Amino acid sequence: METSLKEHIAWKKSYACWLQYERITDNEWYENHSSLCRSIAVIGNSPILQSSLYELRQGIQSMLGEEPIVSDKTIDASIILGIYNDIDWQNYGIDTYKIDELNDEGYIIQSVNNGENESLLLLGKSDKAVLYATHHLLRMIQLGDSLKKIKIVESPKNQIRMLNQWDNMNASIERGYSGQSIFFEDNKITKNLARIKDYARLLSSVGINAISINNVNVWKVETKLITDEFLPDVAKIADIFRAYGIKTFLSINFASPIEIGQLDTADPLDSDVIKWWENKAKEIYQYIPDFGGFVVKADSEHRPGPFSYNRDHADGANLLGRALEPFGGLVIWRCFVYNCLQDWRNRSTDRARAAYDHFKPLDGKFLDNVILQVKNGPMDFQVREPVSPLFGALEKTNQMMEFQVTQEYTGQQKDLCYLVPQWKEVLEFDTYAKGEGSTVKNIVNGSLYKYKYSGICAVSNIGNDMNWTGHTLAQANLYGYGRLIWDPELASETIAEDWIRMTFGHDPVVIEIINNMLLESWPIYENYTAPLGIGWMVNIGHHYGPNIDGYEYSVWGTYHFADRDGIGVDRTIETGTGYANQYFSPNKEIYNSLNTCPDELLLFFHHVPYTHKLKSGETVIQHIYNTHFRGVEQVEELINNWNKLKDKIDEIRYVNVQERLNLQLENAKSWRDQINTYFYRKSGIADEKNRTIY
Ligand code: GCU
Repeated sequence: METSLKEHIAWKKSYACWLQYERITDNEWYENHSSLCRSIAVIGNSPILQSSLYELRQGIQSMLGEEPIVSDKTIDASIILGIYNDIDWQNYGIDTYKIDELNDEGYIIQSVNNGENESLLLLGKSDKAVLYATHHLLRMIQLGDSLKKIKIVESPKNQIRMLNQWDNMNASIERGYSGQSIFFEDNKITKNLARIKDYARLLSSVGINAISINNVNVWKVETKLITDEFLPDVAKIADIFRAYGIKTFLSINFASPIEIGQLDTADPLDSDVIKWWENKAKEIYQYIPDFGGFVVKADSEHRPGPFSYNRDHADGANLLGRALEPFGGLVIWRCFVYNCLQDWRNRSTDRARAAYDHFKPLDGKFLDNVILQVKNGPMDFQVREPVSPLFGALEKTNQMMEFQVTQEYTGQQKDLCYLVPQWKEVLEFDTYAKGEGSTVKNIVNGSLYKYKYSGICAVSNIGNDMNWTGHTLAQANLYGYGRLIWDPELASETIAEDWIRMTFGHDPVVIEIINNMLLESWPIYENYTAPLGIGWMVNIGHHYGPNIDGYEYSVWGTYHFADRDGIGVDRTIETGTGYANQYFSPNKEIYNSLNTCPDELLLFFHHVPYTHKLKSGETVIQHIYNTHFRGVEQVEELINNWNKLKDKIDEIRYVNVQERLNLQLENAKSWRDQINTYFYRKSGIADEKNRTIY
């Protein structure tokens, strides 16, 4: 008992992530602000407002050392929270146009005159917005920002801000690198609801408003999550998330009518199947009145779907859409649909083309409570891929982006890889769908085509490890994901710096070192792994570490086509798979031409000789050698930099990162040596700098 308590205290910082709420040590800040934090009035009552109060009380007590007084009289309060409908905001001098500017989750935080005193008014468009305002205020306190004479007007830029858990009910997590599920154990829903509440707190603090709690691959037991065997327990989880402004979704099995419904078909046009789903929806909403809806992986990697009945994906998705529609539920239908039984010798089949080829012809055929979920790239969350050409191609179908926070192909939370810069690059990409400025961020925020529903989701990176994410620094990806999709204009550096300050404190050395480590980490990972956008070359199944030909002759369609003369996939219009043609001009011409294709994606679009000169001036083969030697040196630099923080970070977190950096170094060396040797032998061309190649 004693030890576990001690251990728990020691682990507290790891567990708290960016909600450390450390005692403020800046005396000047304290002097200036303590009176502003002395009392709170919440106007209105709802579970979400209660959560706001709970968060604010806890946070302030922990940071300022005194519990704020809670009063129901605004005149006594130094912080006033409430929904704009319930507060006489005109009396506080709030401009009407500011309120009109807010969307449903938007808020204002403003210094106002309250009798004799200056108070802070946190005014939300909804209770959820009040919660976000509360978190914003707590963040400002943590960051030591001034709270005097402030006027903040904020609305999230994306409507759906979601996480997908890939958790199975036996507690395993598909592509999980941080322990087991916090949701399930022993094929049941966990009894440890406290941990789920803590997860909800973390998520709401960065603005997440939706979650699907089970894996997109829905196996036997998970298929039963939508039955009365499990719905009462799912409802308990939904209650927890609801109080933090988060809607609960479930991934479902398209063949449910057969597997749990005793029908002999799941044909989307069969009247019994239609009825079955309608009844199912009714039943679910009896347990969870604000149930978010279904996430569906169909006809993908051997999962059942409408193709078995010669129906298309609009038939499949609309079947579910119609059933959920009366209750306001959504169908999030994944576009990760491709032929996973390919033959490498057939160079005309191209997995990269698949999502567009399947879904573009169906544009406009989906009901308006269906959203197509598209992975950021056409393959599968590689360290570097072009942006999926489906962004911009769907004019009449709701669309959302899918990112991967869990580092399946980017180091599995052993290697450091801060992914916010990658996501930002994707969101900034100009598709030219409606001319210049048709950026991905303006597509997924719904503005370009006026989608009814849109947004961003991502595969989560958490498990039941004490620090949630295995690698302590991988917490920055979860945090950064939430902040970035709330406001894609935020800089990666700013997000990183906020995270570091809230996680490790304000020591400038700590901030500078960790910020540099985070920002360099994606390019470093790219340097020592697969070159120039080709991707893959990973070990089969688990996807960690190098295996250059691991998938080269398999059925999955992930080839590099390296031979003695050259490497790369010809995806050009004239001689290749024609994938480049799926983009709007000028992107299609840029990618299609060897002269204009950016170096970083060269091998994704072109098959070239090893002696091909890159825009950087290096040949392809020399680039491979240089980046792989450099990548290992850079990991050594990461280690040296981390070592400088030895006395500045608590031991548990210091050692956690140190151990992982050492694993990363082993991984980087292994990649360097295998890649360099493989391509030296294939090409017969020596390294200009004569370094050791085994
Ligand atoms: C990848 C991943 C699988 C996952 C799939 C998906 O292929 O390796 O584990 O199921 O993506 O997104 O459905």
